Amino acid sequence: MAIFNDYDKYASAYDADIEDNVYNALYERPATLALVGDVAGRRVLDAGCGSGVLSQALAASGAAVTGVDLSTNLLAIARHRLGPDVPLIQADLDQQLPIRSSTFDVVVASLVMHYLHDWSGPLSEFRRVLAPGGCVIISTHHPFVDFRPSGQGDYLGTFEFTEEWVKSGERFLMRFWHRPLHAMFDAFTAAGFTVERVSEPRPGAAVRDRSPELFEQLGREAPFIFFILRSDDRDPSPAGETPSR
Ligand SMILES: C[S@@+](CC[C@H](N)C(=O)[O-])C[C@H]1O[C@@H](n2cnc3c(N)ncnc32)[C@H](O)[C@@H]1O
Repeated sequence: MAIFNDYDKYASAYDADIEDNVYNALYERPATLALVGDVAGRRVLDAGCGSGVLSQALAASGAAVTGVDLSTNLLAIARHRLGPDVPLIQADLDQQLPIRSSTFDVVVASLVMHYLHDWSGPLSEFRRVLAPGGCVIISTHHPFVDFRPSGQGDYLGTFEFTEEWVKSGERFLMRFWHRPLHAMFDAFTAAGFTVERVSEPRPGAAVRDRSPELFEQLGREAPFIFFILRSDDRDPSPAGETPSR
């Protein structure tokens, strides 16, 4: 039987690929870091931290970073990359997080939301672990773009689709969730967030210098969409209490 999203098996290949490729290293990660802004002295949860490349950049900018991810082997690479001082938690974003309420100023969810079917639980958890007024930075598949290769032709639907990736010469079978833009906004609002910014960044000079073809392609069609969400002022639950979901 085919296994999908097997990040444990491909952890090393995935990590080697994203360190310096166009999509992650030159396009998505710089765009995410630009939206996160100045993190010096801020408490940041890197949700879906993978092998810790983004966490490393955040820590280097002075953030107190905690990473959370499902994959044992990616977390092992993250531990090696980040050293002993960055807390790393193995947890499923679909479940309640083993984190006290109101612990973070910022949650970053970089390229992880499209793995999740129902965003209500993860977004409620982000809001719970954020201090009031904190923000979430999300990068995820652009829904105008991912529904076409999905082959389902149903932009307004919410459905799973599969892709094959080749990274560092290895083939990955991937499975993602498509949802339309209004469903993303509905989930943000229902979880108690205001959408502060939507971003569809154009590629920068680093992409142009590496690959004129991808520069042209990414300049026409943003593969990812980025959001800044602001938690409203209400304290969702007293510190340390676990909300029911
Ligand atoms: C495309 S990678 C992005 C990793 C990292 N954010 C980056 O940009 O380098 C997706 C990550 O999401 C994690 N992931 C997928 N589903 C998850 C879940 N339900 N809970 C926690 N992590 C999950 C995977 O293990 C993987 O590390």
